[in-house]
Amino acid sequence: MSSGKLAGRVAIVTGAGHGLGAECVRVLSEHGASVAVADIDFEAASQVAESLEAEGRAALAVRADVSSEEDVTAMIAKVKTRFGRIDVLHNNAAVLNADQRQRDRDLANLDMDAFDRAIAVNLRGAVLCTKHVIPLMLEQGGGSIIFATSGLGMQGDMSLSGYATSKAALLMLPKLVAAQYGKQGIRGNAVQIGLAPQHPMPEALLEIMRDNHCTPELGTPRQIADVVAFLASDESSFVTGTTLVADGGFGSHTPSLVPMRKLFEAMGRSSM
Ligand SMILES: NC(=O)c1ccc[n+]([C@@H]2O[C@H](COP(=O)([O-])OP(=O)(O)OC[C@H]3O[C@@H](n4cnc5c(N)ncnc54)[C@H](O)[C@@H]3O)[C@@H](O)[C@H]2O)c1
Repeated sequence: MSSGKLAGRVAIVTGAGHGLGAECVRVLSEHGASVAVADIDFEAASQVAESLEAEGRAALAVRADVSSEEDVTAMIAKVKTRFGRIDVLHNNAAVLNADQRQRDRDLANLDMDAFDRAIAVNLRGAVLCTKHVIPLMLEQGGGSIIFATSGLGMQGDMSLSGYATSKAALLMLPKLVAAQYGKQGIRGNAVQIGLAPQHPMPEALLEIMRDNHCTPELGTPRQIADVVAFLASDESSFVTGTTLVADGGFGSHTPSLVPMRKLFEAMGRSSM
């Protein structure tokens, strides 16, 4: 539901051509923000921006590889030229395509090019976008910078070693933003996302993930975008330097919870 809580604000969402990023720009724009839809995939970014413009919203598609400092400075300049200011940066871009996920494996089988790419896009990209938006936010007297992190940056898993490492490092960035620029009105926060599937996954795997969520279902893009809109807006004006966990309780229960639940079910009991 539109609230107008971001009316007059300008937001950049990176990696907004697909998936959660695309939903985030839609929701930020629904709340009144003018949005920059930034992505390495310009065609996808253009489609998202065009669909928003067709609804009478202000949107700009920008092609940027966030791992390139040249691309990032050009992106910030384009958004400043078009909208005059930048109030919100959501560092959402991550390299997650099928080829990357196949090569970003367990440590002994890790393809180091995939590792380097995960760090370059997911971590360096967020640092670069943050570095180049801060001077503008300082001039304006404030802003909100958001980082998309993951449960995989907190808990060990079987694969995606580069992705997990990049997401773990991202947890420090909101704290640095808060400590270094909080007095000048810039807030930094992360959203630690559970599973809101954007890539095909086998049903058996989805079932395991569903069992481990403390909600009836896995997350939806809208549920994540609502948290991003909260962190972008003045509703969260006293929230900074922290990570808001939006994971349906995936990271909050004991490792034994699911097997215990199944054991009790098999015994025809609901608890010990
Ligand atoms: N979907 C989930 O369940 C989930 C869970 C935890 C965390 N996250 C995080 O949420 C964010 C979005 O994930 P998603 O599932 O929507 O992924 P996605 O793969 O659907 O979207 C990622 C987007 O980033 C873009 N991108 C890739 N490399 C880029 C680059 N170098 N520069 C600019 N853009 C680039 C892609 O083109 C794509 O549009 C990511 O940071 C991801 O780590 C997602």
